[in-house]
Amino acid sequence: MSSMLILFFAEILLCCAHSAGDSVPKLLLVSFDGFRADYLETYKLPHLQEFIENGVLVKEVRNTFITKTFPNHYTIVTGLYEESHGIVANDMYDADAKKNFSQFNDSDPFWWNDAVPIWVTNQQQGKGASAAAMWPGSDVKINNTTPHFFMKYNFSVKFEERVERIVEWLNSSDPVVNFAVLYWEEPDASGHKYGPRDTQNMQRVLEEVDKHVGFLMNKLKASGLWDTVNVIITSDHGMASCSAEKLIVLDECLGRNNYTLIDRTPVAAVLPRQNKEDVYNLLKNCNSHMKVYLKEEIPDRFHYRHHKRIQPIILVADEGWTIVQNESLSKLGDHGYDNALPSMHPFLAARGPAFRRGYSHGSLANVDIYPMMCHVLGLAPRPHNGTFANAKCLLADQWCISVPEAIGIVIGVFMVLSTFTCIIIISKNRVAPSRPFARLQLQSDDDDPLIG
Ligand SMILES: *[C@@H]1O[C@H](CO)[C@@H](O)[C@H](O)[C@H]1NC(C)=O
Ligand SMILES: *[C@@H]1O[C@H](CO)[C@@H](O)[C@H](O)[C@H]1NC(C)=O
Ligand SMILES: *[C@@H]1O[C@H](CO)[C@@H](O)[C@H](O)[C@H]1NC(C)=O
Ligand SMILES: *[C@@H]1O[C@H](CO)[C@@H](O)[C@H](O)[C@H]1NC(C)=O
Ligand SMILES: *[C@@H]1O[C@H](CO)[C@@H](O)[C@H](O)[C@H]1NC(C)=O
Ligand SMILES: *[C@@H]1O[C@H](CO)[C@@H](O)[C@H](O)[C@H]1NC(C)=O
Ligand SMILES: *[C@@H]1O[C@H](CO)[C@@H](O)[C@H](O)[C@H]1NC(C)=O
Ligand SMILES: *[C@@H]1O[C@H](CO)[C@@H](O)[C@H](O)[C@H]1NC(C)=O
Ligand SMILES: [Zn+2]
Repeated sequence: MSSMLILFFAEILLCCAHSAGDSVPKLLLVSFDGFRADYLETYKLPHLQEFIENGVLVKEVRNTFITKTFPNHYTIVTGLYEESHGIVANDMYDADAKKNFSQFNDSDPFWWNDAVPIWVTNQQQGKGASAAAMWPGSDVKINNTTPHFFMKYNFSVKFEERVERIVEWLNSSDPVVNFAVLYWEEPDASGHKYGPRDTQNMQRVLEEVDKHVGFLMNKLKASGLWDTVNVIITSDHGMASCSAEKLIVLDECLGRNNYTLIDRTPVAAVLPRQNKEDVYNLLKNCNSHMKVYLKEEIPDRFHYRHHKRIQPIILVADEGWTIVQNESLSKLGDHGYDNALPSMHPFLAARGPAFRRGYSHGSLANVDIYPMMCHVLGLAPRPHNGTFANAKCLLADQWCISVPEAIGIVIGVFMVLSTFTCIIIISKNRVAPSRPFARLQLQSDDDDPLIG
């Protein structure tokens, strides 16, 4: 028995030593911008399905407010709410520094330095080098560091070229690249253009995205990385349909000289130029299809208040509504709305040695992705707003009992215990009347010839 135990532990030790010495765990994080969670059910996506079948699927990812591209991509790689990582919109104004940020002018480290993304931490903790193909912020010197390999953002660079570079870098032995990020602009761009209800056009676009997934899988297979690399495929937000009938026209409510519009729609960031209360009251009575908040009264659940780049007044349009000054509708789909709306949620799929196989999970917050990635890479996470335990069920090396399972087990144990108790009570009750007989038996025992 003890020798078997020793053998067992020796095996565990050997196994651990083997996997530690074998190679460092590798992780590739991929984002297809604007991939709404339910596209997975609406469209036939064979490559993505194949990917999911051998890994895990999170059907809905609860993203952060505002549900825009730059803020959510930075949340995924930092685990922080937007008020804590400082990328609070795609268009920002910093009143202290008197600087503007936009997606076309994003490379001043000033905007990014409130947080440290995982590709920097990975290099700082010495686990290996990081590589990046156009993930927002990945070409900026954040905390004085860029990924060892990266591409300057250029939307004209094809998906295939981005993948070829990433796979080449992941295959590099000097330095060893253990973490990489890859970004692609679709299906977001087409979602804006056609609107998510245009299933004919969206089908074509999503088939293309699915081919891209197939291309990525084939490249990883051809380079021999497929069996060892962990791959996460996710997105930053979903998409809602917009229409010309759902316009909120600010010019009808107040003069433009009253305020500066820092960010436009569907969450408008308003910097008052006149008395704040006056501007607020004019906006408050403007349109019933948007909420108007003073910065101090932004709901707690948004985690969107404590940053100087959040403007004094924000307007949040209802799903499908567009805020304009006097322009006409320019896009049939948009995102940025309340992060409680299912239409704003993306999905997540992951496969590789670190992940379970054939497991499907209801939902996860995107702040939880960061601690999960740190675990896979063996990194000590920086302070963040996620919860590692929420992601345990996705991981091959973690115990995972879901709430219904836990309740089932508790009820099961309770039932077994109460059955036993009942049996004991019943049998005791049965024994009671036959006591004289029992005593008699005892007495007959006393009469045992051995004792006698
Ligand atoms: C980009 O923003 C910076 C401030 O952050 C500003 O100094 C610079 O002029 C801007 N560049 C362009 C091309 O707008
Ligand atoms: C920043 O943007 C605002 C609003 O678009 C504009 O009024 C201001 O001149 C810009 N400031 C700088 C420094 O570019
Ligand atoms: C940047 O990295 C250094 C260590 O290299 C660290 O001491 C510093 O706190 C980091 N900056 C931020 C903003 O976390
Ligand atoms: C962006 O990429 C395209 C296609 O590869 C290339 O022709 C163009 O020169 C690039 N632009 C910049 C600014 O590098
Ligand atoms: C990967 O690297 C090895 C050597 O380290 C090389 O033989 C192989 O061709 C590379 N594969 C690709 C796809 O670059
Ligand atoms: C502010 O808006 C109100 C309502 O449209 C208008 O009467 C007022 O003149 C505006 N103030 C300025 C300074 O533009
Ligand atoms: C919108 O407002 C601007 C500035 O007040 C004006 O020049 C323009 O003609 C208006 N456009 C429309 C479509 O009303
Ligand atoms: C999010 O995490 C940061 C860093 O630890 C912390 O400062 C902040 O208070 C957290 N936010 C919430 C809502 O817990
Ligand atoms: Zn996006």
